[in-house]
Parts: sequence; structure tokens; C-alpha cells
Amino acid sequence: MKNEAGKVRELYDAAAANYHNLVQKSNYIGPDWLLKIVAPGIQAPNLKVLDLGCGNGINVANLLTLNPTILATGVDISPKMIDAAQQVGIYQTLVCQSLDEGLTFSDDQSFDMVIALGCLEFVNDVDFALTEAARVCKSAGYFYSTFQHFEEGNPQAPRQMRSGEVLHFAYSTAEVLAKLANAGFLVLSHETMIGYTGGAPCPYIFTISQKK
Ligand SMILES: C[S@@+](CC[C@H](N)C(=O)[O-])C[C@H]1O[C@@H](n2cnc3c(N)ncnc32)[C@H](O)[C@@H]1O
Repeated sequence: MKNEAGKVRELYDAAAANYHNLVQKSNYIGPDWLLKIVAPGIQAPNLKVLDLGCGNGINVANLLTLNPTILATGVDISPKMIDAAQQVGIYQTLVCQSLDEGLTFSDDQSFDMVIALGCLEFVNDVDFALTEAARVCKSAGYFYSTFQHFEEGNPQAPRQMRSGEVLHFAYSTAEVLAKLANAGFLVLSHETMIGYTGGAPCPYIFTISQKK
């Protein structure tokens, strides 16, 4: 089964106006995790950051507190999320498209850092999305990403769940490590934590990788 782009768009268009409150209410830890672990090098002048599934821009807003010279590009499937990010005024470029379409707007090796938090579970072809992330990331550039966690035999970590009509695709730790390696990343660290607690606690694999 695959996600229809229109259904994902509808889900996040409906959430956009209230996204900030949803993050608070669901105890979503992605933004705080990134802020805490972001590697040395974040302070380099005019660092080029690509924010995949950027939502309302919370992660780039946080990174800008560490380095106000960051030049950010955001990509999101939801026009209303893109509007929300636009209103914050922190992205040089915002692109409204699905990660399943590839990052055709970008040349190879264009970004010092790529982030993909809380979005890869909605992508139909995660291997393609990761290969594209690696293509546009500079050599030795950092890639911060989260994956919904699947664990065989663990009902708290199912292979698939749903938000309404939208599917979430989850992966085992071994699968995530293989996918990142195949895409061209060296995985520096990974840890499994509860990403958010909207209803049932949702386990995520948080990864830090570097482009080979
Ligand atoms: C849970 S939010 C996370 C937003 C932000 N990255 C964060 O950490 O707060 C997921 C975002 O991914 C976007 N998204 C979902 N599927 C996508 C896809 N296939 N391509 C691009 N963006 C997608 C949604 O529109 C939404 O803004």
C-alpha cells in the first residue's frame, strides 16, 4: 500500500494552523533532540541547510538560535505548512513538493547539512528519498533523520500505522542502518526513543549520519 500525496497534503494542511500546539500536546521530541545533538560545525558562516518535511519551520528556527547566518531551504508536501514556514521568514527558499518526487530543484553536493525529522514515515519510497538527500548533501556533510521504529513481535512498534487515511511506514533498526548506508551515508549514531505520544507512544529511531 502507498500513500496518496493528496491525502498526506490534506492531513497536514488541516494541521498547519495548529501545528505548534500539536507539537506541545504530543510531547514531540524531534526539535529538542536536534538542538541538543547538533554537531560542531553548526557555527560555520552561511551554512547551507536543507530541511526535508520542514513543517512550520520549527527546526530551522531552533538552529538559527545557534547560528543566525544559516541559509535554509525547506521542502514540504503541504501548501499550508509551506505558508506557515514562509510567514516565519527564515527560509531563503521553500519548495512545495513530495519527497517521492526527488529533489530536482537542487544540484549535487549543495548543502552542508540535511535534516529530515518526523517526515520519512510518510514517504512511499524512502530509499529514493535517502538517495536524493545524499546526492544533494556535500561530502562530510551531516544528515539528521528520524524513522518510525518497527520491531518484530512488539505491538508498540508496528510495521504500519495510520493517521486517518494516511499510512506511516516503520522500519527496524537494521533496515534503517542498511538504507542509510546504501544511500551513501556513514551512520555515526542511532538511538530509539519515544518520538511523540499523540495517542499510543510512538517509537522513533533518531540517527546522525555523515555523507561519505
Ligand atoms: C510531523 S511533521 C514534522 C515537521 C518538522 N520536520 C518537525 O520536525 O516539526 C511532518 C511534515 O512532513 C510533511 N510531509 C509528509 N509527507 C511528505 C512527503 N512525502 N514529502 C514532503 N513532505 C512531507 C508534512 O506535510 C509535515 O509538514
